[in-house]
Amino acid sequence: MSLPITAVVLAAGKGTRMRSPLPKVLHQVGGRAMVLRLMDSLNQAEIADAVVVTGFESQMVVDEVQAAYPNTRFAEQTEQLGTAHAVQQAVPQLPEQECTVVIVYGDAPLIPAQALQQLVTEHEAQGNDLTTITATAEDPTGFGRIVRDAQGNFVQTVECKECTAEQKEITEVSTCLYAVSSSVLREFLPQIDNNNAKGEYYLTALEGLALQAGKKVGTIDGGEADLLVGVNSLDQLAVAEVAWQEQKRAYYLANGVKMHDPFTVYFSYDTKLEPGCVIGPNVLFHQGVTVCEGVVLEGFASLQNCTIGSGSTVHAFSHVNGATIGENNAVGPFARLRPGAELAADVKVGNFVEIKKSTIGQGTKVNHLSYVGDAQVGAQVNVGAGLVTANYNRLTGEKAQTTVGDGASIGANNTLVAPVTVGAQAFTAAGATVRKDVPPAALGYSENTQKTKLDYVKPTQKSA
Ligand code: UD1
Ligand code: CA
Repeated sequence: MSLPITAVVLAAGKGTRMRSPLPKVLHQVGGRAMVLRLMDSLNQAEIADAVVVTGFESQMVVDEVQAAYPNTRFAEQTEQLGTAHAVQQAVPQLPEQECTVVIVYGDAPLIPAQALQQLVTEHEAQGNDLTTITATAEDPTGFGRIVRDAQGNFVQTVECKECTAEQKEITEVSTCLYAVSSSVLREFLPQIDNNNAKGEYYLTALEGLALQAGKKVGTIDGGEADLLVGVNSLDQLAVAEVAWQEQKRAYYLANGVKMHDPFTVYFSYDTKLEPGCVIGPNVLFHQGVTVCEGVVLEGFASLQNCTIGSGSTVHAFSHVNGATIGENNAVGPFARLRPGAELAADVKVGNFVEIKKSTIGQGTKVNHLSYVGDAQVGAQVNVGAGLVTANYNRLTGEKAQTTVGDGASIGANNTLVAPVTVGAQAFTAAGATVRKDVPPAALGYSENTQKTKLDYVKPTQKSA
């Protein structure tokens, strides 16, 4: 019979070696806080009930976890006296009836949901009182070592600082992933003392104590340690990031996404790429990017909070943040799409064009050197080189709207002084400063009569 499950997530530590004011568990891998990655894995493993233990910068951690997982419960560990002490703070929040407690450390960003599922399944199938996952570390420095007897039976975990020279050679380490029955936790946690090199209450003393008291303790071989253990320093964070990016690259390559130089492409935890995309070198996917089928990202692009419609091409050196690119668009090279830029289908946005908080209608072209802000530009509009929408009044701090109707043509080097409307099918002449509305099918131009002065250059000044 399977018992209800509650997770205890340890997230109180400062992470001194990170040398950062941010609590350790809020450092990100793939753009996602490490503690949230664990919550994601717990959720995927269908372990929905969780108590997160916070301490250092408690409110920051609570806010971030609560925003993503509003049903989470929290326990505060005001002084960080060790991992066993941290779990102790969560005990009053455990359900009163017997349950299985899954303990995870919030600084382990790569733990796959399958490992947590396997932990619970084995724990139940073996009828264990306590089950833990062990792993093999090429360099076990800093980790708790798994001590076994001559027959290979588990004896105890010994923290690195407490190891004898012989025990230091052991490469089987503790991941501190536990499934433990709540009654065993309640019984043995108070027995853990802090008579050790660090003066801390080590959670890893739990399994030894339980075993000595005749409880059934099981271990699972979790394979290589890299994906299962915690991050304690910025170099370990960087190693975790690289490992995660590698997983993502392999995943997309196996799922129909072509990459010319995968090592230079960086993903966020929530990047969505449909099969049939082609990605050139040096593309950065920040948070919130969806790329539809058949899109070509030429390379050297920074993308954030945007959707790129199927069949579109983003040429090199483009910066897209908060924009929607429709189907069959061509964007860039050197385009900047800012929040609220919404491009319909078949739009062309060329080099050195910036678009902010504007809708651009189907088939419209803004090909060269323009700033379009707070504008509604209709369909099949042609924008000549060098349009500037003068949308901002610095004295009032207000932004005004520019409207360009379907089929209009904006001449080269125009300033549209908002609020202003250029009607459908209307024209504006080259060099126009448009301050008054141009009715549909009309021509708007500003007086800027050319005068010519002959013989301006004297014969003696003429270049050869
Ligand atoms: C711990 C284990 C070690 C194991 C390794 C695996 C202990 C004593 N040691 O070492 O055996 O090999 O993880 O990654 O458990 N925390 C609190 N309150 C505290 C102390 C820590 O909440 O008082 C939290 C930290 O925020 C962190 C986690 O517990 O998320 C682990 O603490 P950390 O100091 O990183 O333990 P390690 O030395 O890495
Ligand atoms: Ca750690």
